[in-house]
Amino acid sequence: MPREGAASRTRVVAFGPGRVNLIGEHTDYAGGLSLPFAIEEGVTVTATAIAGGDVEAHAVDLGEEDSFPLADPGRDAAGWRAFVRGTAAELTASGHELRPARLEITGTVPEGSGLSSSAALEVALALALLALAGEDEPDRVALARLCSRVENDWVGANTGLLDQLAALLGEQGHALRIDFRSLRVTHVPLEIGDWRLVTVDSGEAHTHAGSGYNARRRECEEAARRLGLDSLRDAQEADLARLPVPLDRRVRHVLGENARVDATVDALREGDLARVGRLLDGSHTSMRDLYDASTAAVERTVAALKDVGAAGARMVGGGFGGHVLALFGPGDRPPHGARPVSPGPGARIVER
Ligand code: GLA
Repeated sequence: MPREGAASRTRVVAFGPGRVNLIGEHTDYAGGLSLPFAIEEGVTVTATAIAGGDVEAHAVDLGEEDSFPLADPGRDAAGWRAFVRGTAAELTASGHELRPARLEITGTVPEGSGLSSSAALEVALALALLALAGEDEPDRVALARLCSRVENDWVGANTGLLDQLAALLGEQGHALRIDFRSLRVTHVPLEIGDWRLVTVDSGEAHTHAGSGYNARRRECEEAARRLGLDSLRDAQEADLARLPVPLDRRVRHVLGENARVDATVDALREGDLARVGRLLDGSHTSMRDLYDASTAAVERTVAALKDVGAAGARMVGGGFGGHVLALFGPGDRPPHGARPVSPGPGARIVER
């Protein structure tokens, strides 16, 4: 039901941040651990109430439009349109009574970058549509699940909850240690002094729906099934011998990556950033050699960053292209074109 006073609200602006996953990659759908943070860049959605029964959407940066009946968004859309229609449809299906609206969408996260432009878009859309209907404080974990259904069922990317939880629960100055089995989130101060975190574009965009992402997820599910486990979180080193190639390597990655998340939390608490760098390198090697999620362009980017003195460098997000995250010590200079990233606040209404 629209809340009291909603009808008097005619325009809201919502912001959804992108995210950098410091470490803990391809562990979310295996009930594992990750350590992402929301970034300052993201997607802004301005929603204005309109008469009639439609949603009109304008992707300002692309110069493209879409329009669909709120009562029946239809499934025959691809690209950014599938996100908009899916978000509206999933909110309605969950009992939210949305209002017809015009949506202006602008963004600062490059698409296909591994910095989660898609979760930024979903959460900004959801917060804007809900706020226009007078709902300002939705349950953020439930909303993360809803946005993840948009990816899975409307866009065809069988992704987990990492990006949506990072965007919705992010906090200025903090990374989030997320335990995907319990959905327990711990805010970990990300204090790096005069060290710097940067991202560098590998020059190769990816889509989760079109890359090896879904295949990796299927392999993990198959491995869990063969081991008789609900999730790979419960797998042990000793189980690896019971799995055929390459499922054994996939599980070895997940086990090692979960351990690296907690080692990174410890290293951050101790202020041992050189160790954080080594853990980032370890994550990259594992994603490349055990998870087979790297590409030649990503490898060239990582090698170039290490050559100029990065303490650690790793592909970020789903892999198969996208951006590389690197950590630089106080004496070392990131290369030209590197974008500094720091932990910003989570998704929010910026104007109502
Ligand atoms: C993408 C997905 C996430 C997660 C990462 C890999 O960003 O959307 O759910 O699986 O890849 O860690």
